[in-house]
Amino acid sequence: MISSPVVETPARLKDGVIATTMARAEIVERVMARGELVILKGVFPDEMATAIKTAVADWGRGIDPAEVDDFAGNYHRRRVHVARIQQAPHVFHDYNFNELGALPAELQATLRPLFEPLRELYNALTAHDVQFQIPATGPYVHPQLIHYPSGGGFFARHWHNLSPQKLGFIVSLSRRGRDFRNGGTCFEIDGQVVDTEAHQEIGDILVWRYDHHHWVTQSDLRDKFDWTSDAGRWVATFAYFDPKG
Ligand SMILES: [Fe+2]
Repeated sequence: MISSPVVETPARLKDGVIATTMARAEIVERVMARGELVILKGVFPDEMATAIKTAVADWGRGIDPAEVDDFAGNYHRRRVHVARIQQAPHVFHDYNFNELGALPAELQATLRPLFEPLRELYNALTAHDVQFQIPATGPYVHPQLIHYPSGGGFFARHWHNLSPQKLGFIVSLSRRGRDFRNGGTCFEIDGQVVDTEAHQEIGDILVWRYDHHHWVTQSDLRDKFDWTSDAGRWVATFAYFDPKG
């Protein structure tokens, strides 16, 4: 590939909607037809992203980590696993909000200004109509924060089905140099490795075609690993799947 598959474009949050400089139809065209990575720069202010990360970490410290996934509820889980089918090793801490309405009011009031704009954008880009509720059958959205702790958080190469998700969001909720030293998402596109670490800053949304193979590079092993610390790289994602499917 001659031109870079990473496209950066300014965006901002305006009245609870993600206003993009690039037309939404062009984002879809670039991501889905050309396989490019479109980074919507500066959507969420640093203070907002940091407040979200801090509130979620605090919430997690008050609740025991789950041992199994609860695809209908709110839970967090510390993972040191090798994925069974894809054999992808990973070390991270995820926070899952399948039942936003059941969260404490204060945490809901912190999370909805993140996830409602993502929902609106996701529906617009995919022509889905996802809601924050669990249907009797079929896929639904799984709002999630993932923390790659300093001292060795990572996620080895893996992939997902294109359908029904179509495209994914990776929202950066921490600042390199302040909150974490290194680590970022890499993709393989047309046989080339594309490292987005230098492109994604706090508050940015990376939009990517969901069947790109991808991985998350390891945070620096010189740093102390501590499950109870906020230190490290945090992202929010918006996965759409049927756990029974
Ligand atoms: Fe993934």
